[in-house]
Amino acid sequence: MSDSKIESILHEERRFEPSAAFTANANVSGMEQYRQLCQQAEEDWQGFWGDCARREMDWDKPFSTVYDGSDAPHHKWFNDGELNISANCLDRHLSTRGDKTAIIFEDDAGTTELWSYRQLHEAVCRFANGLLAAGLQRGDRVIIYMPMRPQAVVAMQACARIGAVHSVVFGGFSAKSLEDRIQDAGAKMVITADESVRGGKAIALKATVDAALSACSHQVQTVVVYQRSGAPVAMQEGRDVYWHDFSDHQSTDCPPVALNAEAPLFILYTSGSTGKPKGILHTCGGYLLGSILSMRWVFDYQENDVYWCTADVGWITGHTYVCYGPLAVGATQVIFEGIPTYPHAGRFWEIIAKHKVTTFYTAPTAIRSLIKAGADLPKQHDLSSLRILGTVGEPINPEAWMWYHEVVGGRRCPIVDTWWQTETGSNVIAPLPGAITTKPGSCTLPLPGLFAAVVDEQGNDVGNGEGGYLVIKKPWPSQLRTIWGDDQRYCDTYYPANIAGGRFYVAGDSARCDEDGYFWIMGRIDDVLNVSGHRLGTMEIESALVANPKIAEAAVVGRPDELTGEAVVAFVVLKGERPTAENATALMTELRDWVGKEIGAIAKPKEIRFGDNLPKTRSGKIMRRLLRIIAAGEEITQDVSTLENPAILEQLKEKIG
Ligand code: PRX
Repeated sequence: MSDSKIESILHEERRFEPSAAFTANANVSGMEQYRQLCQQAEEDWQGFWGDCARREMDWDKPFSTVYDGSDAPHHKWFNDGELNISANCLDRHLSTRGDKTAIIFEDDAGTTELWSYRQLHEAVCRFANGLLAAGLQRGDRVIIYMPMRPQAVVAMQACARIGAVHSVVFGGFSAKSLEDRIQDAGAKMVITADESVRGGKAIALKATVDAALSACSHQVQTVVVYQRSGAPVAMQEGRDVYWHDFSDHQSTDCPPVALNAEAPLFILYTSGSTGKPKGILHTCGGYLLGSILSMRWVFDYQENDVYWCTADVGWITGHTYVCYGPLAVGATQVIFEGIPTYPHAGRFWEIIAKHKVTTFYTAPTAIRSLIKAGADLPKQHDLSSLRILGTVGEPINPEAWMWYHEVVGGRRCPIVDTWWQTETGSNVIAPLPGAITTKPGSCTLPLPGLFAAVVDEQGNDVGNGEGGYLVIKKPWPSQLRTIWGDDQRYCDTYYPANIAGGRFYVAGDSARCDEDGYFWIMGRIDDVLNVSGHRLGTMEIESALVANPKIAEAAVVGRPDELTGEAVVAFVVLKGERPTAENATALMTELRDWVGKEIGAIAKPKEIRFGDNLPKTRSGKIMRRLLRIIAAGEEITQDVSTLENPAILEQLKEKIG
């Protein structure tokens, strides 16, 4: 983070206290109650979590131990307890909320479909029976590559119901990325659709699955295809089956299996600092508890709320705050298939007004692009139903925060800026809206029971205003359990010996705390970019680039971007000559498309620079620090005498094409 950013953070003087009216009805009502919860967790950490788990979840078999750290950092929570996640999300509501709307689905074209809890339960049972009939067993892995529709939730919930482990792959990922995930997870089944339709455009899903499977040495036995658009797709005899043939004739009775609290629930792949994505493994009991508590604490969930989290189920936010959290508390939620700007730039505001959304959760990048698309557009819609606004994925700049507050929230709605990660499972640092005064740009204070801190390498708390490593000092129920198939990487990444001697969970972010103990996230400390709120490993993009036959070497860095937070900049050394101004543009397009094909459109470099070499130390290490400065268009002021080839910097500053 640049010094100027730190300065602006330290000078942020605006404060927004919860209104008395909001606090009066809030689940956590005022600072005192928040402090009490934190104190309970501090004084009797296990008792606190044990009480929460007994109160919030239905257990088939009660647990006798809350936390078992005998094999730390392999944490076990509620280990001898048994429960079923799908039963906790659906069955337990049937007697009291069977006819309540669980999902308000709005498709790309604007047609609305309502699903009651009873209907959702039936669809999940049918599909789960289909999974059983196909021979799927507990612990088997299933890849879900679906459009953002209720069927995606049905597929996930059905897996949870029978104890199969789902791994959702975002529908924008390429065949190559999909293939890697199918292989790594060792999946037996893929659930997909013919196409997804977003912004009026069809995107082939089944064809991508076919391409992934044709390159896969691993045996996938079944591919279930939901007919979204009805476009003709190739169906492989004996392997491929349409969703309706798979599920519609099945019984609506499918008893949920009681699973150990530590049984795996899902694997979700996320980027790390090496080329290989990490399969983050979450388990049943602790994960669900985190989802439920944050729904109550951070989103202040009330029975009549209409909740809308805009995240796709392909990301962790779509797992915790679409598929599991809202259903577990019995909420009514909006699921939207389309994009914010189609058929017009006011689509989000139209949906909020139409369905009387009370709680709206989206990403800073979406907020910034909506400001650009029409800062006054929200005023054309009745947004008076809103009572809470949320953001997630990256730091929100104070200007976007203020616009969200004033124009969308009418100065009435608290903003919950939620810091968390795929690995943490649910919100970790976020304001409890009826208690905590907010400051634009800060995710404020940790949730009760979450011992977040900013420390130095030795693990000592740094002083207020000083930057350091963001850590969580004690385990918590919804944290990841390991990296699928690579436990050593789990230990090395999240409990590294060189920071605090491996005692704390290390998030990989740097942060600082101000004089009120508020957290300000400064960015990643590893080689991971944050583009539009999504993590991209620079190594992953580099590996994709060097897989191109024309490329000898590549280094990828991020540079600040007004809209997407960070943008990908690639420095490339070709096997042949450096391109000329005439042929550079075509080559850039070719390489960008190549990355799109290898990883997905989201990873395409915004800018590509060509050099005869990359700046390296005498030992051959690429000096990314310098590349970052060049990418940002800043002057290099530091000493470059340790470089093997300082002249290369001038060449890389030049833009060709
Ligand atoms: O760098 C932090 C940033 O996103 C990373 C986690 O990315 P991912 O696992 O993809 O999950 C995104 C959704 C939970 C973090 O390490 N990040 C997430 N939320 C915030 C944030 N940075 C600042 N403020 C946030 N509210």
